[in-house]
Amino acid sequence: MLADKITKDNIETMVMNFYRRVLKDDLVGPYFIEELGDDMDNKYWQPHLKRLVDFWESVVQGDTSYKRNPFTPHMMMEDLNLEVFERWLKLFFETVDEVYEPQIADRFKERSNTIAGNFMRNLGLV
Ligand code: HEM
Repeated sequence: MLADKITKDNIETMVMNFYRRVLKDDLVGPYFIEELGDDMDNKYWQPHLKRLVDFWESVVQGDTSYKRNPFTPHMMMEDLNLEVFERWLKLFFETVDEVYEPQIADRFKERSNTIAGNFMRNLGLV
């Protein structure tokens, strides 16, 4: 059943489903495998997943547990390009559509699109 409200539990589900999808993707997957490995249970993935749950809670719920700069790790990745961002967004949109009712999925899509746009501008890709 699609969720009609945002909770920490369904953000956790969404984040896990997103990265399962990412790891299977030939274009976006390798960036994560290089940083964190290919096993989401390992000691590198665990803090990343927790961080991303905090991040999305802060973006969509105004929660304050995420206090880092989300752009920093992307600055270090030299070969990010538009195609990778577009794929990332496609995978993210597919994931939120699987978890949330359209009205809520749209909120995540709108925010991710804006943030991805900022990242791309900061990286000089657009
Ligand atoms: C081109 C697409 C992208 C790729 C390949 C990518 C890849 C990565 C990688 C490899 C990390 C580092 C993992 C770690 O050490 O924790 C990371 C961190 C992160 N990414 Fe992305 N990312 C992309 C786009 C985005 C977008 C569009 C967003 C937000 C809408 C986002 C949000 C974040 C956040 C919040 C972190 C954790 C930052 C921190 O607190 O250290 N990423 N990303």
